[in-house]
Amino acid sequence: MSGMTDKPFSVPAERNSAPILDVLRNELAHSTRVLEIGSGTGQHAACFAKALPFLQWQTSDRDENHDGIHAWIFDTGLTNLLPPLSLDVLSADMPVESCDAVYSANTAHIMSIEAVQKMFTIVGTVLQDDGVFCLYGPFRQDGAFNTPSNAEFHKSLRSQNPEMGIRHLEALDEFAREQGLTRIRLYAMPANNHFAIWRKAAQ
Ligand SMILES: C[S@@+](CC[C@H](N)C(=O)[O-])C[C@H]1O[C@@H](n2cnc3c(N)ncnc32)[C@H](O)[C@@H]1O
Repeated sequence: MSGMTDKPFSVPAERNSAPILDVLRNELAHSTRVLEIGSGTGQHAACFAKALPFLQWQTSDRDENHDGIHAWIFDTGLTNLLPPLSLDVLSADMPVESCDAVYSANTAHIMSIEAVQKMFTIVGTVLQDDGVFCLYGPFRQDGAFNTPSNAEFHKSLRSQNPEMGIRHLEALDEFAREQGLTRIRLYAMPANNHFAIWRKAAQ
């Protein structure tokens, strides 16, 4: 816990925020309104909305995480950081009318594969033409884990819940393609993670 209010705190989110921000500075340089899916503690939102003041940063998550996200928002005092929308990707409602970027971190291996596909459907619906979807996390590529530690992580996720697991990037590309999005960049990130960026083609 830290700050003026008791706030949830994630050590990995603290550690990875600087390298993620480096990428977002480039990828969101021309964006105006970002929807974050699965804001978690709210730490990333607080850090990125402060560093990128030209963006309206819309947080969202399942309701159980809202108190913590509210606490982080309250402590920042930022006006470009918006209170969390109630968004479980498996529920059918579209969270916002439109935005020009969507960001999500460490969600695809936690959600079921059906939920991941639904996340891409939501992204395809809310994103304006030329908008980007930035998804950070561990991925499999060419059918393989990139490190033994990610293979172990996958095994431990599966043993907690058989619906969780590290996704194949090619499967995500296919979900993206169904929504008119094409992967334009893939960044190798610290701790064996990647940052994948898809762009929605102009219709
Ligand atoms: C490992 S946490 C990552 C949180 C934060 N993005 C981060 O990087 O620190 C996974 C997040 O995915 C969210 N999540 C899982 N299933 C979801 C769903 N069906 N719809 C929306 N969010 C979901 C959880 O509530 C949680 O906030």
